[in-house]
Amino acid sequence: MNNSTERKITIAIDGYSSSGKSTMARALASAIGYRYIDSGAMYRAVTLWAMRNGLVAPGSEPDVERIVEGLPLIDIDFLVDGQRQLTTLNGEVVENEIRSLEVSNCVSPIAAIPQVRHAMVAMQKAMGRSKGIVMDGRDIGTVVFPDAEMKVFCDASAEQRASRRFKELTDKGAQVTYQEVLDNVKTRDHIDETRSEGPLRCADDAVRLDNSDMSIEEQNRWLLDLYHQRVSQS
Ligand code: CDP
Repeated sequence: MNNSTERKITIAIDGYSSSGKSTMARALASAIGYRYIDSGAMYRAVTLWAMRNGLVAPGSEPDVERIVEGLPLIDIDFLVDGQRQLTTLNGEVVENEIRSLEVSNCVSPIAAIPQVRHAMVAMQKAMGRSKGIVMDGRDIGTVVFPDAEMKVFCDASAEQRASRRFKELTDKGAQVTYQEVLDNVKTRDHIDETRSEGPLRCADDAVRLDNSDMSIEEQNRWLLDLYHQRVSQS
């Protein structure tokens, strides 16, 4: 548990799609009593809104102009339900829907729209104003919290990441193939790395973690050790 007399820091965890960021970020936040924010859920919620309004579909280009016009109509929030955090879109819990492969197949082109990024980044910066936060994403250490005291960048092989995500989706009953998930992981990585605004990039001062051969317990312990080091240095 976090010692309340300890100075609170900001923790940024970035990395490739399905690299286990959210699992380790959530576990760390819970262990140290910090707030956890999944920034990817926010881009997924915007994407779901655009899908429901016919402004994007798998395999077609998003209607950028109408999505940007619609941004003021999109209210994204998080409800805390015990250990879980549920993403809401205009007051409706959309946690399950935003995790579908359909949303994954549409999200990266929408997350590449500069105006969408500006709106999400402004909300994320506001959430982190009083520190004591763990946020995961693609640009947290580079754009959202460039001054974060602790930055981690996660990676693992594309095949390893796809098999983890495939298991997660099929455990929930989704009808998907491993190949579809692998293709999605690779396509998103490419779009996320090559966009002009806030591309997926390891911050110069981030610690890199390749968790291909690590269990969840091992990666959680590794992250907690790093947190204790950072707090003792700050
Ligand atoms: O959990 P997973 O790795 O599948 O992805 P996510 O964190 O839910 O993010 C979904 C998508 O949102 C990513 O592929 C990016 O296109 C976008 N994203 C982003 O651009 N910037 C962030 N800070 C977080 C996510």
